[in-house]
Amino acid sequence: MSFRLQPAAPARPNRCQLFGPGSRPALFDKMAASAADVINLDLEDSVAPDDKPQARQNIIQAIGDVDWGNKHLSVRINGLDTPYWYRDVVDLLEQSSDRLDQIMIPKVGCAADVYAVDALVTAVEAARGRKKRIALEVIIESAAGIAHVEEIAASSPRLQAMSLGAADFAASMGMQTTGIGGTQENYYMIRDGVKHWSDPWHWAQAAIVAACRTHGVLPVDGPFGDFSDDEGFRAQARRSATLGMVGKWAIHPKQIALANEVFTPSEAQVTEAREILAAMEAAKAAGQGAATYKGRLIDIASMRQAEVIVRQAEIIGS
Ligand code: COA
Ligand code: MG
Repeated sequence: MSFRLQPAAPARPNRCQLFGPGSRPALFDKMAASAADVINLDLEDSVAPDDKPQARQNIIQAIGDVDWGNKHLSVRINGLDTPYWYRDVVDLLEQSSDRLDQIMIPKVGCAADVYAVDALVTAVEAARGRKKRIALEVIIESAAGIAHVEEIAASSPRLQAMSLGAADFAASMGMQTTGIGGTQENYYMIRDGVKHWSDPWHWAQAAIVAACRTHGVLPVDGPFGDFSDDEGFRAQARRSATLGMVGKWAIHPKQIALANEVFTPSEAQVTEAREILAAMEAAKAAGQGAATYKGRLIDIASMRQAEVIVRQAEIIGS
C-alpha cells in the first residue's frame, strides 16, 4: 500500500438513483415515495428546450414542498456546452430550500468543468448565506470524460459520486450501437463456431471505479435503457457490483427493486464475510497470518475483502 491511504467514499447508501423529468411534476410524489436511495430530478436531456424554464420552477418548488424523507436529493443541470447551465445553478441555489443535497453535472470532460460549477455554487451559497454545503456528482459520458477520469475524480472536495452514462458515452466514442448499456449484439468472441458475448462497457467501468476509489468518490453505473428486460438489467448490475460499483440508475420505477436487490449484499454474503473475519481473528490469535476456510486459502487480504461487504451492509442497514 502506498503511504497515502485510500480515502473512504461517502458513507451513505447509493444503490439506486431514480430519474424523472423536471417537466413531469406529477411524478415527483411517486419518486419521493419510492424505495430509491437517491432522487435525480432532471433538467437536462429528458426536458425539451422550451420546457427548461418551467421545469426549473417545478423542481425549485418541489424541493421545498414534497416530503423527500431521508432520500439524497439531487438535480441534474444542463451541460456546460449549453446556454442553460448557469441559470440552472443560480436559480436552484437562490430559490430552492436547504433540502437540496446535490447537483449532478452531465458530460463532464475535464476537472475544469467541475471547477467552474464549484466556483459558481460557492459564490451563490455565500451570497445567499446557505448553510448546507451542496455536494456534486458527475456523469462520465464522453471520450474526454473517460480520458480525464482521474483528474475529474480529484476535482473538488464537493464531489461525492461519478456515474457512467452509456448512451452519450457510446455516441461520443462513435460506438456502433443505439443500445443504452447491456449486451451488444456485435461485441463477441468466437470459438469453435460458438459466439461468446463480451462486455464493451467493462473497461470504462473499471477506469471509473479505479479513479473513484483513489479519490473517495462513489462509483455508479448509469442507465439501462430497456426497462422491459429485467434479466438484462440484473446481469449488467451484477457485473457493475462485481467491479466495485455501489449502485445503478433507474429510468423507470420497475428498475428500483432490481437495483436494490443487486447492490444490497445478500444475507449469505454477509454471513460468509463475518465467518471469514472470525476465522482470521482465530488464526491471528494462534499467531498465523493465513488459514483455511471451506477448503480455500484466506489471509489478511481476505479480511479486507470481507470488510468491504460487511461495511456496505452496515451503511445500507443504518
Ligand atoms: N419515477 C416515478 N414514477 C414513475 C416514473 C419515474 N421516473 N416513470 C413512470 N412512473 C410511474 C407512472 O406515473 C405510472 O404510475 P401509475 O401507475 O400511478 O399511473 C407507473 O410508474 C408506470 O409508468 P409507465 O406508464 O410504465 O411509464 P410512462 O409511460 O409514464 O413513462 C418513461 C415512461 C420512460 C417516459 C418515464 O419512466 C420517464 O420519464 N423516466 C425517466 C426518464 C429520465 O429521467 N431520463 C433521464 C435520465 S436517463
Ligand atoms: Mg447523457
